[in-house]
Amino acid sequence: MDMLMFQLDKAIHTPLYEQLYAAIKSSIIERKIQTNDKLPSKRKLADFLNISQTTVELAYGQLLAEGYVLSKPRVGYFVEDIDTLAYVDMEEPSQNISPEAVQIAIDFNPGQIDTQSFPFTTWRKYMKDSIDEEKAELLLVGNAQGEYELRQEIANYLYQSRGVQCSPEQIVIGSGTEQLLPMIVQLLENEHTYAIENPGYATTHYIFKQQHQSTVSISVDDDGMDIKELNQSNATIAYVTPSHQFPTGAILSASRRVQLLNWASKNSHHYIIEDDYDSEFRYTGKPIAALQGMDQEGKVIYMSTFSKSLMPSLRIAYFVLPPKLLEIYNEMYNYYTCTVPRIDQHTLARFMQDGHFSKHLNRMRKIYRRKLEKIVTQFKLYGDKIIISGEQAGMHLMIKANHPLNALELSQLALTNSIRIAPIDNYLVTNHSDYNQHLLLGFGGIPESKISSSIDALMHAFGFKKEY
Ligand SMILES: Cc1ncc(COP(=O)(O)O)c(C=O)c1O
Repeated sequence: MDMLMFQLDKAIHTPLYEQLYAAIKSSIIERKIQTNDKLPSKRKLADFLNISQTTVELAYGQLLAEGYVLSKPRVGYFVEDIDTLAYVDMEEPSQNISPEAVQIAIDFNPGQIDTQSFPFTTWRKYMKDSIDEEKAELLLVGNAQGEYELRQEIANYLYQSRGVQCSPEQIVIGSGTEQLLPMIVQLLENEHTYAIENPGYATTHYIFKQQHQSTVSISVDDDGMDIKELNQSNATIAYVTPSHQFPTGAILSASRRVQLLNWASKNSHHYIIEDDYDSEFRYTGKPIAALQGMDQEGKVIYMSTFSKSLMPSLRIAYFVLPPKLLEIYNEMYNYYTCTVPRIDQHTLARFMQDGHFSKHLNRMRKIYRRKLEKIVTQFKLYGDKIIISGEQAGMHLMIKANHPLNALELSQLALTNSIRIAPIDNYLVTNHSDYNQHLLLGFGGIPESKISSSIDALMHAFGFKKEY
């Protein structure tokens, strides 16, 4: 078989590998792909569908685990004779396998937050106030950069909590990092090469590619992005997550911060995009101030989001522009309309103004810290089977499993036990053998009361037994 044509939708929540797995599985069941057919190689199918090889690998791995295909070492994957599979009922309506085929009971996806502690009553009050008849003007289009009241609250918050120096005029509000990053790419005008962390936040990689920008991956170690490697590269823009590197959790060390700022000052086209996505939640030591506050030359574009601190569905994020780029913004985006509904912006502004945002953060910090402590305590019961890192901040940590299987295989094993946990491979831009055994454990969405049992379930899926 030359190729497999499937429509995969990057916009929906279902991971691409699940969509691909479900599509191939349906084709096998419906006999569109015949027994003994050889599936395309992972590389070819990945190129053809414009997805990563890891995505194809995960889909093939799941089909293999469920017996739809068999693997011949160094030859490829072949379709099994499904007549011999007792559990495939050709008459069942479930032939139209939905992409949601795999039921997830425990989700360690890092995009989840704690939904049990949201102050619904307070939020409802401010939302109600915002749609009051007295605020009829909110029915009309507002400021392109976002409501001034909200930008003012954000500027105050950033100064007090993150050491970011900016005025409301420098802030641009939009519906998510995904929507704002392409704007930044446009603002930077020239052709650039974007340095991205490896491993890193996969979404940014897609965005830079979709915007036809070149990218270069830069290694990450315990001190964050390797600035020596950055200096040796041809990168002109560096995208970094200095306060809590995604996904390793490393914090960019003080000396590397200075080196990074020096890298930016040595060329007028160089800029740093600082993604400060989850810095509200730091559990040990003092909060780490943002890089933007150290920048004397207007080289840092600071960005953050309310996706972690409040809720990902709110779709409110923002960036802070240095003066030179603000001028370009004012010329380039004078036709623009802000993408966030004004009523939501006013609700959030009032929520912040009356101190509820800080209160909520303090409360959530305690909850996430307790969850984290429980995770650490529970893993300790399994001796040296699991090594944890990146647990000083945020809602995810990295675990290294001392297991004969690699992280990709372990994540598949977890999936067959209805547990979703991603291998760090999913976040690698280029292969890096240092991360063969590492997985990303997001704990935001697991209720506190279920943390210990969820860790036990994961350890059980990996075949680990308690040692204490
Ligand atoms: C590194 C990083 N940046 C930004 C975000 C937030 O993105 P958005 O504002 O589009 O929800 C996330 C969310 O998971 C993230 O992990």
